[in-house]
Amino acid sequence: MTAPLLEIDDLRLHFYTRDGVVRAVDGVTYHVKAGETLAVVGESGCGKSVTAQSVLRLVPSPPGRYVSGQIRFQGRNLLDLDMAEMRKLRGAEISMIFQEPMTSLNPVLTVGRQIGETLVLHQGMDQKAAEARAVEMLKLVGIPEPERRVREYPHQLSGGMRQRVMIAMALACNPKLLIADEPTTALDVTIQAQILDLMRELKSRVGAAIILITHDLGVVAEMAERVVVMYAGRKVEEASVDDLFARPRHPYTLGLMGSIPHLGSSLVHNAPPRLAEIQGVVPSLREEIPGCAFAPRCGFATERCGRERPEIEELAPGHFAACFEAERVAAQFAEAAS
Ligand SMILES: Nc1ncnc2c1ncn2[C@@H]1O[C@H](COP(=O)(O)OP(=O)(O)OP(=O)(O)O)[C@@H](O)[C@H]1O
Ligand code: SF4
Ligand SMILES: [Mg+2]
Repeated sequence: MTAPLLEIDDLRLHFYTRDGVVRAVDGVTYHVKAGETLAVVGESGCGKSVTAQSVLRLVPSPPGRYVSGQIRFQGRNLLDLDMAEMRKLRGAEISMIFQEPMTSLNPVLTVGRQIGETLVLHQGMDQKAAEARAVEMLKLVGIPEPERRVREYPHQLSGGMRQRVMIAMALACNPKLLIADEPTTALDVTIQAQILDLMRELKSRVGAAIILITHDLGVVAEMAERVVVMYAGRKVEEASVDDLFARPRHPYTLGLMGSIPHLGSSLVHNAPPRLAEIQGVVPSLREEIPGCAFAPRCGFATERCGRERPEIEELAPGHFAACFEAERVAAQFAEAAS
């Protein structure tokens, strides 16, 4: 078996703020293999973005601090690299696209210049060759009249086009890993579908691995091979997409799928395209949680859950969950599904 391309290993990243310590990432482990698409899901604030930004060391420090763990890319721990070494990797080997392109595009540079910059920096192209390649990239991501658009500024483009420009920028140097943090959330449904088609097509052409952060379970089913479910700064379940939808083993995952059994009610399991609302609120990451962080919202909770924290365990090949009641969850889901 080949080693994974990226391995996040027991990562802890905390924010030291005036109001206390925020345990944004609290012992997260996941990996991505070359050419694979891994989806990361979970409610707002559970640490998806901060974990992904850690890979590129984009988390501001202070207040952020890597407390422990490793992030190995092709075997090298990225947390040991200095900023000059990180800059060599960014855009060239690992690149990232964000939810809101305006925050990562430079408003005073033409799009051609911005795509070209990474090529000049990482591939030593001259300005002219870089601009020519920028036109090619714009064509590749489906922007009409690329020769004209390449000379325009971000504000002259529509939201969907800016997202395409960001994808063009991210893919210009054929990175081995693309991190896409809710790349389509800000776009309307038709454009969303086009961007996802584009990512899929580019993935098969360029062969990049993708970490796809999303709130959309439809997108997970369509795009990813494996899924990591996060809750309160931790991974609570991991499985292949097929396994996760067919045999979820964590009550939180059931909740996201809209099939959480509330006390006294029966299971309903028609996975909605968006993550379902779960009753109750996410816990504050400022306090140490003694037991399972999901206990106050969990219909399966027992007395043990309040005092002991469940570790993540492999319950079937490739299927991990952090829940004392995982077998009961799986059995109830299976019964309701039959
Ligand atoms: N600079 C910061 N200082 C203090 N806390 C921060 C900082 N950046 C992020 N956090 C906290 O870290 C936690 C994880 O945030 P993160 O952005 O990773 O969530 P997320 O899962 O990506 O949520 P969303 O789905 O809303 O994007 C949150 O509680 C957030 O408030
Ligand atoms: S460990 Fe207990 S509280 Fe936590 S998810 Fe499982 S059953 Fe619910
Ligand atoms: Mg986020």
